[in-house]
Amino acid sequence: MTPQASQQHPSPPLVSGPSVARQRCINPGCGASFAITDTLTACPSCAALLDIVYDWTASGARAATTLPPGTPAWMRWTFASLPAKTRADTSGVWKFRRLMPFYDDEKNIVTIGEGKTILQNADLLARHLGFEPGTLHLQYEGQNPSGSFKDNGMTAAFTHAKMVGATVCACASTGNTSAAMAIYASQCGIKPVIFIGQGKIAYGKLSQALDYGALTLQVAGDFDACLAKVRYIAENIPRAGVYLMNSVNPFRLEGQKAVMYRVLEGLCWQVPDWIVVPGGNLGNCSAFGKAFAELLDLGMIDRVPRLAVINAAGSSTLDRIYNGLGVRWNGGKYFSDGGKAKVDAEYARMYAHNERASTIATAIEINRPVNLAKALRALEIMKGDANEGIVRSVGDETIKHYKAAVGKFGFGCEPASAASVAGAHMLRQEGLIKPGQTVACILTGHILKDPDVTVSYHTGLDAKASKQPLPTERPPGQYANPPVPVADDLGEILRAMGVDTTGLDLSGAAKATGKVAKEY
Ligand code: F0G
Repeated sequence: MTPQASQQHPSPPLVSGPSVARQRCINPGCGASFAITDTLTACPSCAALLDIVYDWTASGARAATTLPPGTPAWMRWTFASLPAKTRADTSGVWKFRRLMPFYDDEKNIVTIGEGKTILQNADLLARHLGFEPGTLHLQYEGQNPSGSFKDNGMTAAFTHAKMVGATVCACASTGNTSAAMAIYASQCGIKPVIFIGQGKIAYGKLSQALDYGALTLQVAGDFDACLAKVRYIAENIPRAGVYLMNSVNPFRLEGQKAVMYRVLEGLCWQVPDWIVVPGGNLGNCSAFGKAFAELLDLGMIDRVPRLAVINAAGSSTLDRIYNGLGVRWNGGKYFSDGGKAKVDAEYARMYAHNERASTIATAIEINRPVNLAKALRALEIMKGDANEGIVRSVGDETIKHYKAAVGKFGFGCEPASAASVAGAHMLRQEGLIKPGQTVACILTGHILKDPDVTVSYHTGLDAKASKQPLPTERPPGQYANPPVPVADDLGEILRAMGVDTTGLDLSGAAKATGKVAKEY
């Protein structure tokens, strides 16, 4: 940027907070909107998910990004950057705060230096897999403070939690959400409570939750059961005072948009042809879709990448719904054109057959992805040069194979993350990814998150089978923080959380949080 240019286009001030940001129901047929100071996990009118929406004109972002036609994207970005550098600029999320101005005061931003991750050029891996040099990139989110991409979302959600005065936070997790939530909670003085399915979490992640001092409830159920319980408590039991940190929290997804900003930054704001991401609860891909819709709206980019969401074959609900049942977002008509009804029927079928998710990639071992509707929307937004995004599934052996390949060429990741590279290679072999197209795979979690899978792959040792059951006596260490086993029962869970259940009517809870969990 030349000095003359900056004088002609001084960067406008940034306005943030309730005057420029609102929460809005994603169902266009509803469209209800709420103040950002409300704590909500779903639309109170129609139970659909919520978005954070902005008045980009009032926030200054539109003026900051509007430059004459033909201005290169990188120059738009330069103009959009902020007038002065502050502490928030040390975060790889908040340096993009002009694109997420919901916080009330910059001084109240909760950050632990997340998002200092870069887009890595993976030329050796590319050559090995038959991609052209310079076309395969890995966005290495395992380098975040808690070792996964979740920190991008937690910094935003905790900033909101502080805004609304939360004192207890909770999440259901396959491991990384809990690790990220626990580190932020313990740094900013909010009590963390974690719900994990018994035997469903990699030890690297469990060790983080315990060390960061979270109350860790090992529920005798799977992730879907845990999420139904914690969501019910957050929504219906005010005396528990729980602020929910799962990705139904729309503020979390605001932070996760930054993963895409950094991919663009790594490519000097040249839009890649493909973004390939593992899909579990589908928060990440949902955030990516929103990021690109907003960048287009602001004129900062003039094309979008094509999205490929990769499921594990043992946990492939999105694949079945998208490819098998042909359900689409359809401009939001999903809620009324029979799409959502098909999803509900599929969930009922899964329940009737007692179908459970099962994959070595425990991070994405999820049957009922809560962000399904937003993910369908992202697949419509991120269509690249085609009509829509793509969904594929990869099996456990394939995941292990590509995980080892990622490690061999110097990056390393946990099993779920390798699904992105496996998926990209599959799409290249199918001819959907064309020679020379630029691909960014998201490596969502660090290699050390799940050492059992790595050791077992390289040695043949079944590390999981050789583990002893947890001892029942309390360990002697002064700070010992053992997990608390609980039945898959709301009353027992609440008592383990220290909530007095005397006189509490839990009769309606069984239906809402049991196997036939309420769908959102
Ligand atoms: N990769 C890793 C390493 C994850 O931990 C997760 C999700 C995903 C991919 C999938 O992302 O849910 O946004 O589609 N882990 C969650 C958890 C569910 O509880 O840690 P998603």
